[in-house]
Amino acid sequence: MTIKRILTAPDPFLKQISNPVDSVTKEIQILMDDMLETMYDAPGIGLAAVQIGVPLRVIVIDIAWRNEDGKKEPMYFVNPEIISTVETLSTYEEGCLSVPDQYAEIDRPEKCKVKYLDYDGNEQIMSAEGMLATCIQHEMDHLEGILFIDHLSNLKKNIIVKKLIKSKKSSSKERIVA
Ligand code: NI
Repeated sequence: MTIKRILTAPDPFLKQISNPVDSVTKEIQILMDDMLETMYDAPGIGLAAVQIGVPLRVIVIDIAWRNEDGKKEPMYFVNPEIISTVETLSTYEEGCLSVPDQYAEIDRPEKCKVKYLDYDGNEQIMSAEGMLATCIQHEMDHLEGILFIDHLSNLKKNIIVKKLIKSKKSSSKERIVA
C-alpha cells in the first residue's frame, strides 16, 4: 500500500465530476487500499479518490478507528448512489483533508440509504445515520466536485479559501528554506 499526496483547495482538480468505475478490478482494489492507507496516515475518517488525483467514483470511510480502542472498520464504496434521504437535518462540525485545518458546521439529512459496490464488487444497500450518514454525503459531494465549504455563504467560504492560499504560500516558502 502506498501513501498518496492529498490535493488541497483551491486546486481546480477537486472541482471535477468523477467517472463511474466499470468493474471492481484488482487495480480498483489497489486504489482503495492506497486510499485507506493515505486516509489513516492523514489522519481522517473518509477519502474520495479524486482527492488523491484519481477522478473515479470510489470512496473509503472508517468512522470507528479514531475511537479509544482504535479498532479499524474500513468501508469501501464504489459507484455509490444515494437512493433516499430523510427531511430531518443534523448538524456536524465538518473538516476535510482537502481543506486542512478548517472546520464549519454543515446541515445535511440525518439519514440516507446508499447503493454501491463493495470491495469485492458485490452490490450492497446500506442505511446510514448519524456521523456515518454525514460522512457518506460529504464524500459523495467530492464525486461531484463539491467541498463542504461550498455549502457555506460566499463570505465564509472566501475567508477560508484565502487562509488556504496563504498557508500554501507559507508552506512552500518553508520548503525552499529547508
Ligand atoms: Ni472531504
